[in-house]
Amino acid sequence: MSSQSNIPYYHYETHTTTYKVGKQNYDNECMKFIKTECGDDELWYDDIKKLHPTNFGFAYRAMCNTYTHDSQDNKVLVKKSVPVVIKTTNMSQVKYKNYLDNPEEEAKILRDLNKNTRIHSADCFVKVVDDFNIECLSHITHIIITEDGGLDLKDFIFKNFIRKEQPVDMERMFSIWRQLVIAVHLLHTEGQICHLDLKPENILVESTEEYDKVRIIDFGVARYLQDTGKPFGKKIGTEGYMAPEVRESNKYNPCKADLFSLGATLSFLVTSIEPNENEIPLSISSPEAELNDRLSFFERHCSSPRYPRSPQVSRKVSSLLANIMCPCENRFTLSQISEFDLN
Ligand SMILES: Nc1ncnc2c1ncn2[C@@H]1O[C@H](COP(=O)(O)OP(=O)(O)O)[C@@H](O)[C@H]1O
Ligand SMILES: [Mg+2]
Repeated sequence: MSSQSNIPYYHYETHTTTYKVGKQNYDNECMKFIKTECGDDELWYDDIKKLHPTNFGFAYRAMCNTYTHDSQDNKVLVKKSVPVVIKTTNMSQVKYKNYLDNPEEEAKILRDLNKNTRIHSADCFVKVVDDFNIECLSHITHIIITEDGGLDLKDFIFKNFIRKEQPVDMERMFSIWRQLVIAVHLLHTEGQICHLDLKPENILVESTEEYDKVRIIDFGVARYLQDTGKPFGKKIGTEGYMAPEVRESNKYNPCKADLFSLGATLSFLVTSIEPNENEIPLSISSPEAELNDRLSFFERHCSSPRYPRSPQVSRKVSSLLANIMCPCENRFTLSQISEFDLN
């Protein structure tokens, strides 16, 4: 701590807290530490390491150490040390590029979600530790700090299977899938929120010896369902995971759009190939013929020696994908998806 205390600070104050951001540093490239005060406690975010670039900044891994004052008023006592992720967003870039990302809304949505007792106990959305704006070099940067939820789904599959040249464990993939379906169900029903950018990079997996815990992150473009002030007619999301009706920027049902992205994520889970909507038969001229086309497409698409499974399981996976990654008129509902047994 002592070496850090010598570093001059940028100060930033709100009505509740003073934020001090280590100088020489705050330029998105190398952030040394952040200190915040919360009542008598001091929170030091340090051991900051770059994790991933984000749309308008960086995500960093860090440790959050809580210091309190002892009876002699020495502030040396570490109450707890928690791994966190710090996501920075350059707000002028967001405005300049006219993007729909809203990091302040993202923090609010995550806090609201975790206030719901059912959602809180299911623990399927990452928890916010803090969020605030800092002003630096004449621009505002938003900082959101969340609990570290492990690897995103892409890194998880790559590190656990692809890099080790191991076959992908279908049981683990299906367990992740079932947790995802429950999470999206809670999001839409209890949370009354649609995500609008579901994809492997926005899904975290925290692995222990016996279990892979799934959590959804990145609510930067998520919306409250009753938010009628903002009509859902905008192209939001990521190519490959975006429902066809969203790509066409028609007025669309945001929950149905989330289901398409969920299906595209399943397609990634069982193939580790990024979905390409241009290849999927999606015309609605003859729904039945087209469903058969899609079934054979997914059967071809999903057959890979890296994914050992019985022909029966392969057929089920293909059938589920053909009924989710389809025009919204024919798309399975969330209950149909939940009831669909993949084993
Ligand atoms: N709480 C977290 N725990 C672990 N990794 C995270 C966490 N939050 C973000 N990440 C990682 O940082 C990446 C970018 O964060 P994200 O919120 O998705 O930013 P963006 O809006 O730019 O996509 C994610 O894909 C994930 O790999
Ligand atoms: Mg993301």
